Amino acid sequence: MRVQVAIIGSGPSGLLLGQLLQLAGIDNIILEQRSRDYVLGRIRAGVLEEGAVELLDRAKVGGRLHREGLIHTGFDISFAGARHRIDLAGLTGGKKVVIYGQTEITRDMMDAREASGARTVYEALDVEIMDFDSSQPRVRYRKDSVEHEITCDFIAGCDGFHGVCRESVPKNAITNYEKVYPFGWIGLLSETPPVSEELIYVSHERGFGLCSMRSPTRSRTYLQCSLSDSVEQWSDDKFWDELKVRLGPETAANLITGPSIEKSIAPLRSFVAEPMRFGTLLLAGDASHIVPPTGAKGLNLAASDIHYLSTALIDYYNSGKSTELDQYSERALKRIWKAERFSWWMTTLLHRLPENGEIGARLQNAELEYLFTSRAAQTSLAENYVGLPY
Ligand code: APR
Ligand code: PHB
Repeated sequence: MRVQVAIIGSGPSGLLLGQLLQLAGIDNIILEQRSRDYVLGRIRAGVLEEGAVELLDRAKVGGRLHREGLIHTGFDISFAGARHRIDLAGLTGGKKVVIYGQTEITRDMMDAREASGARTVYEALDVEIMDFDSSQPRVRYRKDSVEHEITCDFIAGCDGFHGVCRESVPKNAITNYEKVYPFGWIGLLSETPPVSEELIYVSHERGFGLCSMRSPTRSRTYLQCSLSDSVEQWSDDKFWDELKVRLGPETAANLITGPSIEKSIAPLRSFVAEPMRFGTLLLAGDASHIVPPTGAKGLNLAASDIHYLSTALIDYYNSGKSTELDQYSERALKRIWKAERFSWWMTTLLHRLPENGEIGARLQNAELEYLFTSRAAQTSLAENYVGLPY
């Protein structure tokens, strides 16, 4: 089989790229190792920058997002028993974010892809990418015990952090930058109304907390936990009790608790692999970088990568020139590093970091006090949170 672009992975990166290429008349196939239901069962991020919303509109998958997404013009930081609002819209000339689950975006893009007739192979096993240092790259995979081979012009590595594409690059051609944080997040999804209309980020001496949401009736809540903790150690009751302590009595009084629908522990990591292009192999999204979730940047970075990558591929097929493709890695990485910095900063600002000692805690408190009293500091936080320009 021959296609123009073979996309590995049907997460947000692969689906969005596939949709934009499809609309531009560029022949593509998506190979995904998991089943459709497995991909849709993953609970992930939920905050969209305006740039990501515009891109989803351009991809003609923004309909339900505009009907069901919740527009947020600010969020709270809770510290030392008081809540401080960061007025995103007021600080950025009217910019806002939209709360809409990654699961829903994934579903909307899968539906659009099915309607367009574009091909997706789910449960494509043992995907192997070859000859991407040439103009005739190939992809091999196995489906239902049958071996397949695809030849293409480009391979888009949209296969996430644990994917095969980045791993296939010779070690001397790629540089990895990585920081693993010494704590994790335990997340709990529940069919309960959010404790407040806006998100609350909690900085407490017992650790970070985050009250987020998926809808007016569904909450997504996180607590900083130890990396050695297991989900079994965190009963729902223990989770809610700990959240109440970290929120403080005033906010906790408004908290409605309920049984978990999903509960999982995730490590926090900052990671960038450079560059993002290796001949005819182009990496995007989590395949090339990871941010800790504190700044809600993971999904939004995947979107900006796909903006740069899709326009470069479309320009290549329209003009026959590779100028934009040649610039893809550099353009995407400039924005990625700024989001990496912001996510690292917000993580270090709000988590308990005993390894930094008492002076670390005092400096952290001073930074929070500065943030709450300085419009300049709040503006810097706000302009990064709503998303830097593409
Ligand atoms: N072969 C085929 N598919 C693969 C392989 C492989 N060897 N390895 C991984 N995949 C698939 C995964 O099953 C997954 O569906 O690639 C997809 C990658 O999706 P994501 O991990 O969601 O990565 P991405 O699309 O870049 O999305 C980034 O999602 O993980 C969040 O926080 C992240 O919000 C960010 C966004
Ligand atoms: C979420 O809703 O899952 C979420 C929201 C904001 C974050 C991280 C995760 O910073």
